[in-house]
Amino acid sequence: MALLNFSQPALDDATLAAVTDTMKSGWIASGPRVLAFERALSGTFGGRPTRTLTSATGAMELALLACGVKPGDEVITSTQSFFSTMNMIVKVGARPVFVDCDLVTRAIDLDRVAAAITPRTKAIVPTHFPGALGDMDALYALARRHGLRVIEDAALVQGSTWKGQPIGSFGDIATFSFHPNKNMTTIEGGAIVVPDDATAKHIEVLRFHGIERLADDTRDVAVASGKYNMSDVSAAIGLAQLAQLPAFLAQRQRLAERYFDVFPAIDGAVLPPRGVPGQSWNMFCVLLPYEALGTTRQRVRAALREREIATGLSYEPSHLTTLGRSLGWREGQFPNAERIGRETVTIPLHCGMNEADVDRVCAAIADILG
Ligand SMILES: Cc1ncc(COP(=O)(O)O)c(C=O)c1O
Repeated sequence: MALLNFSQPALDDATLAAVTDTMKSGWIASGPRVLAFERALSGTFGGRPTRTLTSATGAMELALLACGVKPGDEVITSTQSFFSTMNMIVKVGARPVFVDCDLVTRAIDLDRVAAAITPRTKAIVPTHFPGALGDMDALYALARRHGLRVIEDAALVQGSTWKGQPIGSFGDIATFSFHPNKNMTTIEGGAIVVPDDATAKHIEVLRFHGIERLADDTRDVAVASGKYNMSDVSAAIGLAQLAQLPAFLAQRQRLAERYFDVFPAIDGAVLPPRGVPGQSWNMFCVLLPYEALGTTRQRVRAALREREIATGLSYEPSHLTTLGRSLGWREGQFPNAERIGRETVTIPLHCGMNEADVDRVCAAIADILG
């Protein structure tokens, strides 16, 4: 039996043809396809200024810089996110101020955010998860009341909507990932959606060495920056993938529904929220009560692997990493994120699957957990 990956890109002939065409076009670094991909992406974000980058991690770093976050500032973020969120806050010299999340939706806890605001707070960085968003109206109202910037880590939720509006099409700044295990891919890649053209120009400077073009067509650098520009090959993949995104999202939705229908009834298991309208399904993460069942997560994952079913972990809480602990955070501070960190397992969900694959995963879990 072939291994069922927990995640895998959907690369069809149209995507492969786009790569070949671009490779033969004579222009493979950032060029016309990047511009076309950015225009097409922007169209999915209500026409807001959108720029591509080499990753969502880079997008987060540049978003923080564009918001003027600097050494000594504090950024409030959920400890339940991928490590890149914490890392980029630390990399720009700021202090990540962690707060807990909801156990089921994994949305940042806004009461905790409000309690964590100090005169040094510069921005709030929530991470969105598949299946449900936090209360976006309350988030932005809180940010506005305190004059804070919001950078939405939307790496996992391209295609999710809030009250009918796509994430990225409203609000302050949103960052997206096109890593192969996201809703669509450019191999590596990411995008940033910003509120105005001036910020988009700033991102363009930051993503390419800090270079600014002068009136006489010579170049200058005022601020040292790195290199984060997407290639035309990646952008061509992105254009082909974006055309299929609605189909990808629909397939993921069908598979998620099937999980809800056939996941074995296990006392104490926590599934993602079902039935929230307008959500996308990049992952299907479940919490399982290993201790009560007399087993461990490692054993369950190994038993699934023996049955050719791969699983992932999303995510270990950032505050309990060596880096987080070195900044003074410790166990016991954020019970929901810590429980998620201990109990979560990401089961297979990608567009190469069908409903029989979901049934196989669910039967294996039922079998292993008795
Ligand atoms: C929530 C979240 N944010 C950011 C990232 C980083 O994305 P990238 O690999 O494009 O840098 C990831 C990647 O898994 C993620 O899950």
